[in-house]
Amino acid sequence: MIVTTKQLFAHAYGKYALGAYNINNLEQIMGLFKGAIDSKAPFIIQISKGARGYTDKRMLEGIIRAAEEVFPEAVFAVHLDHGDEKTCYECIESGFYSSVMIDASHDPFEENVAITKRVVEAAHARGVSVEAELGMLGGVEEDIAVDEKNALLTDPIEAKEFVAQTGCDSLACAIGTSHGAYKFSGGQGLHFERIKAIQAQIPGTPLVMHGSSSVPQDEVERINAAGGKLKEGAKGVDPNQYLPAAQLGVCKVNIDTDGRLVWTRVHREFFQSKPEEFDLRPAGKVFMAEYAKFIVSRNELLGSAGQLDSVREFATKK
Ligand code: G3H
Ligand code: 13P
Ligand code: ZN
Repeated sequence: MIVTTKQLFAHAYGKYALGAYNINNLEQIMGLFKGAIDSKAPFIIQISKGARGYTDKRMLEGIIRAAEEVFPEAVFAVHLDHGDEKTCYECIESGFYSSVMIDASHDPFEENVAITKRVVEAAHARGVSVEAELGMLGGVEEDIAVDEKNALLTDPIEAKEFVAQTGCDSLACAIGTSHGAYKFSGGQGLHFERIKAIQAQIPGTPLVMHGSSSVPQDEVERINAAGGKLKEGAKGVDPNQYLPAAQLGVCKVNIDTDGRLVWTRVHREFFQSKPEEFDLRPAGKVFMAEYAKFIVSRNELLGSAGQLDSVREFATKK
């Protein structure tokens, strides 16, 4: 059952966070739905501009609609990840998306406000909610590289002004994370004080954490042992910090890189151990099962595991 992102946030706020998982293909979608059902968790399926262009956006929509039939118990929202203005309008018009993210955080504040406001107006007219971003995440975000050292944490006072001026429904904040596998070079972690300060300025507004992958060290080691060359120092967010962040108003935790690592490990190990194999399905089967296991582990850490029946009841009542 596709529900609104708003309903999911209202149920989760202050208690747990929804895993927002990026998908690009059939196998990821199957593993995601299976893991969500196994852990009895609601979730957000998110589609980036790159994912929409990988095959054809209609393929992903078709597969997700089929998954909804194959897994009738699933409760989820469909979200555009890192949209530009044009893609946001396309998704809003399509009627398929529960929410869109307008990412104009690389623009100056006033410009970010103006773009976000236009998208909010178009989205709200169609019952779609909007995630906006303020502040700069370190690392590589889509095609924009930001020097990690100069990464700008979200300013709480600006956050208040931004939400008031734009009417956005949730806010992606820079709170110490960055995209990809190389997040921290030292012992840094999430800036809890900053999350608290932002939330104090905009109580009730769900916060979104991008760049939340944990980059498990054993995963990196297995990939490299099977011929990979991931650089040393690949490091992610401590997944034990998801729940404390959720309790401070972080309702959506974006995870993409970790899923890519599962894919890479499974396929490298599979074909290394079976060099004579050329059927893609046995490896695909292993991946779907392993990705489902990964989703269960994340939903348990996010606190979304076990919420499925309660969220379904909540969403159908509203
Ligand atoms: O934050 C970006 C996401 O990981 C999506 O990545 O644009 O390569 O699909 P992508
Ligand atoms: P990771 O690269 O940490 O998985 O972050 C994904 C993300 O923020 C998608 O928007
Ligand atoms: Zn992101």
